Amino acid sequence: MVKKNIKNWDNKTWLSSNSYIKSFNKFLIKETKLNKNSKILDIGCGRGKIIGSLSSKIKLINKPIGIDLVNHKDKDKRITFKKVDALSFFRDNKKRFDLILIKQTVHLLQLNQIKILLRKMSKSLNIKGKIFIFMLNPNNNEIPNFKLMRKKLLISLKRDKEILGLISSLYPKRTLKNFSYKVEITKKTYIKMIKKKYISTLLSLSNKQILNGINEIDFKYGKKLRFSDKLICIIIKNI
Ligand SMILES: C[S@@+](CC[C@H](N)C(=O)[O-])C[C@H]1O[C@@H](n2cnc3c(N)ncnc32)[C@H](O)[C@@H]1O
Repeated sequence: MVKKNIKNWDNKTWLSSNSYIKSFNKFLIKETKLNKNSKILDIGCGRGKIIGSLSSKIKLINKPIGIDLVNHKDKDKRITFKKVDALSFFRDNKKRFDLILIKQTVHLLQLNQIKILLRKMSKSLNIKGKIFIFMLNPNNNEIPNFKLMRKKLLISLKRDKEILGLISSLYPKRTLKNFSYKVEITKKTYIKMIKKKYISTLLSLSNKQILNGINEIDFKYGKKLRFSDKLICIIIKNI
């Protein structure tokens, strides 16, 4: 596994705001036929706020399971959390799920690991169960950036296209949907996010490169940043 420490991903950013989580879960509920009896697994769940909130919304009887490499102190209490990597989880898992969610995490794995994971996830679905894989939309992306970040982002998006191609070749019946969230944040907040390397494309940058990037962002954008955070959702159904 590629072990990348994305500790600040959903730490006080738009990605952890009630409004984002509400909008994301509205999308999930619309696209799935979840009910209170549904069994849900979130791979790379971070703080687990999304499935925690989903659990309250649809009054899940079984706590959803969230797995992640990082065990955050402030994770959501409404989930059953396991600190384990995705492939190890499936080594001894006997549970079946109605929804397996893997949001903005698959790109952190190698292609051969993704193949194995897809097989394991498919085998762990209930009849009519679905896998929902969310990635940044590789063809349409508005994430505010600086030059070096853009360069890294483009490399990463190219790889995302490869992942999408791989999944499509293995599951030709997969369907694609778009999820988009309108973000409005202050430049100050966004700069704080950049400092904390909120996105994986920033992880390999030195402090100096981050500082230069922040200066660039400061120069390039006005006080408020407005853009759409666009994801594609790959849906794989149990056959
Ligand atoms: C970009 S964050 C996304 C978090 C959450 N899914 C969301 O969208 O808000 C990626 C998460 O995947 C976790 N992760 C990375 N590799 C993993 C692996 N092999 N197994 C489980 N979790 C992993 C990271 O620790 C991180 O919390």
